[in-house]
Amino acid sequence: MRISDTSDLWWKTAVVYCLDVETFMDWNGDGVGDLQGLAQRMDYLADLGVTCLWLMPFYPTQERDDGYDITDFYGVDPRLGTHGDLVEAIRTAKDRGMRVIADLVVNHTSDKHPWFRSACASRTSPYRDYYVWRDEPPAEETAPTFPDQESSVWRYDDKAGQYYLHRFYRQQPDLNVANPAVRDEVAKVMGFWLELGLSGFRVDAVPFFLETLGVDGGEASLADPHQYLRALRSFLGRRVGDGVLLGEVNLPPEEQLTFFGGIDGDELTMQFDFIAMQQMYLSLARHDARPLASALLGRPPTSPDCQWATFARNHDELTLDKLSEDERQEVFAAFGPEPEMQVYGRGLTRRLPPMLQGDPRRIRMVYSLLFSLPGTPVLFYGEEIGMGENLAAEGRLAVRTPMQWTAAKNGGFSTAAPSRLTAPVVEGGFAPEHVNVDAQRRDPDSLLHFMMLLIRRYRDSPELGWGRFEVLEQPHDAVLAHSCTWDDACLIAVHNLGAEPRSVPLGGLDASATLVDLLCHGATAVGQDGSVEIVLEGYGFRWLRVTRPGDRRLL
Ligand code: NOJ
Repeated sequence: MRISDTSDLWWKTAVVYCLDVETFMDWNGDGVGDLQGLAQRMDYLADLGVTCLWLMPFYPTQERDDGYDITDFYGVDPRLGTHGDLVEAIRTAKDRGMRVIADLVVNHTSDKHPWFRSACASRTSPYRDYYVWRDEPPAEETAPTFPDQESSVWRYDDKAGQYYLHRFYRQQPDLNVANPAVRDEVAKVMGFWLELGLSGFRVDAVPFFLETLGVDGGEASLADPHQYLRALRSFLGRRVGDGVLLGEVNLPPEEQLTFFGGIDGDELTMQFDFIAMQQMYLSLARHDARPLASALLGRPPTSPDCQWATFARNHDELTLDKLSEDERQEVFAAFGPEPEMQVYGRGLTRRLPPMLQGDPRRIRMVYSLLFSLPGTPVLFYGEEIGMGENLAAEGRLAVRTPMQWTAAKNGGFSTAAPSRLTAPVVEGGFAPEHVNVDAQRRDPDSLLHFMMLLIRRYRDSPELGWGRFEVLEQPHDAVLAHSCTWDDACLIAVHNLGAEPRSVPLGGLDASATLVDLLCHGATAVGQDGSVEIVLEGYGFRWLRVTRPGDRRLL
């Protein structure tokens, strides 16, 4: 393994963990998670094997979109703590070997942000042109992102006397990045948080953010909105050399490539692979690995410095918007047939374990798959212990319930009265009595221990982040057999998405090699003809390191 030219590109082999400070750990007992609580849990996160924390918005907010409606880009929500608490949390994370990134939400502000208030108050306000205004909404309207609440992306403001653009809720007016003053503000905001110790950002709603360059024409020099994204990346690099921009771009692969900056890779450092995620659920619903395999093979070639971020679940709805209507209905039928499990006509509000009826074989198989796919895995808090959702909570809030630390009151999240909690804890079969960190830490057979093993093996296997991906030929539609190869290292992973046991023949291997199991004891010698037979239980999986005589790797 080469060290010298790879260690700066830490995101290629990171383990990212997304959490909302508000629902993670309440240290002062007021019912709301806080930064001190997070700092107290840094050892847990480091022990789990996390290398990068992604903090969801912790800024002052009107809470119209769970923190994604920000009233002060430079502030810390006083319910969560102070700038001092944040810096302590970042420092503690770094001390434990973890970087911290945070949401950069600059597509819009809250409608209570002083810029927007001033902009509405007068046409001559210096902030008027920070937003996008029209006397009449355009004849051809784009569809609102949250169709359950909004029927248009334009809203008339009485005081302003004009319509403003809001791609999300009406309380989130879009910023106008065609205005150079807004671009300066965005850079200043980035610079501020980088100076406080962040290692980059998860960039919210990237295509929408760039869109206003097109809406208002922009300057000639920004006729291509990607020039602006390149400028932001270059600014980040000047401030923090190995800083990362992890972008939310839910678009078809060829369009995603442009957000990486094409093959030059000089725009977003990483992007979530929404397509593979959606196809994975189709594969799980059908017990057929082929949709996932084609999504992975359909990724466009990118610069080696860029990376795909893989995930099974995030804090939003499990969007299925890139499936066909029939495919989406198949996934709905398999994993969320009830109306209260669905949202916006395109997504599910459930976490993975309830979708799989708590079947430990399937749950482990999915996470094994996730960690073995080429890319950088991103976990959403609570996935490591198999938390469920609260379908009584509205829409996407169903999966944003308090972290379940113990079996005690409020799942050990807070000592406050349950009525004061920022969100109610999950009830029923996935309640803290049944699913919590404390019990799983003591149980070597728990999901938590399994996840720790996966993470350790993933971190031992840089070929997963760096390597050349291949789907290996074998006869079963239910099975995904793939390899990642990098330098002289090769890892083969075999996953059975079906309930029937399967024997999987693999050929074309080096006859002198042995395949050593990484998740259990076992080694299979490759036959003289270069083939092996891998046996899998129903929903079984194996990670196999190809070793050759003389290999000196620790296994
Ligand atoms: C994407 C975020 O993930 C989502 O939670 C939010 O509602 C929108 N962007 C608007 O900021």
